[in-house]
Parts: sequence; structure tokens; C-alpha cells
Amino acid sequence: MNTIKLSEFENTSVAKIDINGTTVAVFKVDEDYYAIQNMCSHSEADLADGEVYDCKVECPLHGAEFDLKTGEALTLPATKPVTVFTTEVDGDSLVIKENLDA
Ligand code: FES
Repeated sequence: MNTIKLSEFENTSVAKIDINGTTVAVFKVDEDYYAIQNMCSHSEADLADGEVYDCKVECPLHGAEFDLKTGEALTLPATKPVTVFTTEVDGDSLVIKENLDA
């Protein structure tokens, strides 16, 4: 199962996990968790290194913003969305799943 211990978020608000060969960036925003594909849809940049505000992450390379809930590319230069994963707290762990409805 793809899980991250909630304790990993004690001193940071972002973690990474590999799910079926895709690196997923998991962000803690207030008490909620959002998981998106780590690789920016514009070029090769780690969204986990981006700045997070208003439930959006800003790509550290060219500054495109992505909605953490939907994966939608909100600003240029990115035009394609990033894949969103489902998160679910289970005891002291966070379970991250591929969103099969997408
Ligand atoms: S690599 Fe993310 S906006 Fe260009």
C-alpha cells in the first residue's frame, strides 16, 4: 500500500512517494493533504520544491501555478494539468491512491 506516516509532516509540509513509477508530491495545507504528480507538465521541474499558497503550487522553474485539488494548470507557461491522486488519512498514516475516476 502507498502510505506515508503522518509524523513525516511534523517538520515539513511536503513529502514525496513513488506510486507505480510516478513520483507523487504530497502537500499538507492546514489539516488537509493533496497529492499531485511531482513532475511539472511544462518541463522537468519538481513541483515538491515549489511554493504553496491558496491551495496552489507554483512551479520553481518557470512559475506556472497548479491547483492542488484538481491539478489544473492555472497560469502559463504550463497548459496541461498534472495528475491528481487521492489521499485518505488512516490512523497514523496517509494513504495515497491513483484516482481511477480521472
Ligand atoms: S517547468 Fe514548470 S513551468 Fe516550466
